[in-house]
Amino acid sequence: MYNLLKGKRGIISGALDQNSIAWKVAEKAHEEGAVFVLTNAPIAMRMGEINTLAEATGSQIVPADATSVEDLTNLFTQSQEILGGKIDFVLHSIGMSVNIRKKIPYPELNYEYFQKGIDVSALSLHKMLSVAKKLDAINEWGSVVALTYMAAQRTYPFYTDMADIKAMLESIARSFGYHYGLDKKVRINTVSQSPTKTTAGTGIKGFGSFYDYADAIAPLGNADAESCADYCITLFSDLTRMVTMQNLFHDGGYSSTGVSDDVMYRLGVENS
Ligand code: NAI
Repeated sequence: MYNLLKGKRGIISGALDQNSIAWKVAEKAHEEGAVFVLTNAPIAMRMGEINTLAEATGSQIVPADATSVEDLTNLFTQSQEILGGKIDFVLHSIGMSVNIRKKIPYPELNYEYFQKGIDVSALSLHKMLSVAKKLDAINEWGSVVALTYMAAQRTYPFYTDMADIKAMLESIARSFGYHYGLDKKVRINTVSQSPTKTTAGTGIKGFGSFYDYADAIAPLGNADAESCADYCITLFSDLTRMVTMQNLFHDGGYSSTGVSDDVMYRLGVENS
């Protein structure tokens, strides 16, 4: 361990179970010396798995529905009380699409579900940042990271409305990054992660085949949740102080590869 987050206070959202990317981030942040509050939607905590993580990392849990400004205000207020000062890092690891859950194809999207998806998965970042800024809850040079996916730039038919929602999330990170950076030197980035076997990931139609496809394209293979957590830790640390308003690909080289020998070979075998 490098003590990269020694003395830092954080808020980590989205740890649902051991597969969650946020779960790994919490474990790594703890190893790197940070103290933090865990948060998730009250309904997501019914399984109680988050308690195991809280115990293992010596953290307290503050439930908050990320669509509720009231809940988020309480989250940032309580977190500062619990941790004894302003916050240094925040992980936004929240995503949900009812259209994906119900396997509704893109041209036929249900707009109520679409709006719910936007509210939960994109506006929640704006709300978090707006609340934090109003309360002046984040220290100068603090770092906020939100997780996203490359469907924001390129079309993946099965990702349906989440593609548009992730594009919005990345745009919010950029736009808010300007304002928060100027006023308080708070930095905001999105990490665009490989397909990862989590509850949110595997809920997507055809996820298994797509996971294998991405793995066959990326020269380093798919990045797993643990390495994503490592990357997030570097972004929370002081070693990346001048990085802000970026969408950073963490995908084993997938996004820069047109086609791989592996995929060419497999198609060739099928066609010959
Ligand atoms: P996950 O299912 O473990 O985490 C999603 C979290 O969002 C859950 O903890 C859930 O309780 C929380 N959530 C849903 N509605 C909420 C609400 N109203 N308020 C507060 N929290 C709420 O899955 P995963 O994969 O760890 O997802 C984390 C982030 O990573 C998401 O933004 C996802 O889109 C993103 N991501 C995931 C990829 C994957 O293949 N798994 C790839 C790229 C990005």
